[in-house]
Amino acid sequence: MLKAIVVYLSTSGNTKIMADSITQGILKKHVDAKAVSFYDVKIEDIKSVDAIAVGSSTFYYKMLPPMEKFLDETMANAGVEGKIGASFGSYGWSGEAPLMIAKKMRQLGMNVLDPVLRIQYKPTEKDLNECLRLGMDIAEKVKNP
Ligand SMILES: Cc1cc2nc3c(=O)[nH]c(=O)nc-3n(C[C@H](O)[C@H](O)[C@H](O)COP(=O)(O)O)c2cc1C
Repeated sequence: MLKAIVVYLSTSGNTKIMADSITQGILKKHVDAKAVSFYDVKIEDIKSVDAIAVGSSTFYYKMLPPMEKFLDETMANAGVEGKIGASFGSYGWSGEAPLMIAKKMRQLGMNVLDPVLRIQYKPTEKDLNECLRLGMDIAEKVKNP
């Protein structure tokens, strides 16, 4: 049964690479997970899982607007209080988006893992290990909330 979902919004693929690697980390710990583009995510998936990781790159010092709408509407309507949250995203120079996502998740009553994961531009091998590590931390939290 699906236990964790990794939702991403990525313009040129950098945050998507992070999402795929975080998902690999969750699966590595034998917790069922999938990465889903923000455009394809279903509210039923958000409702059914124990953990939700949300990623957006930073544009004009903020998360991408559709992701903000997703958090304010879909996530709020899904009733995510008490669920595990994590946020991540690729950025260029200021990287506000993951911090803003974590703040919104906390406002929705989620238990958000610290710290948020921010990677500059395209993830390197070392960065991907950090993504795997975040995935494994999410899985551990699902197993021992
Ligand atoms: C028009 C534009 C605006 C951007 N604004 C910011 C910004 O305000 N702060 C920042 O840290 N990076 C900014 N970036 C850099 C992106 O966040 C960075 O390229 C990131 O790797 C894109 O990831 P993605 O492929 O997952 O969308 C901007 C990039 C573009 C093209």
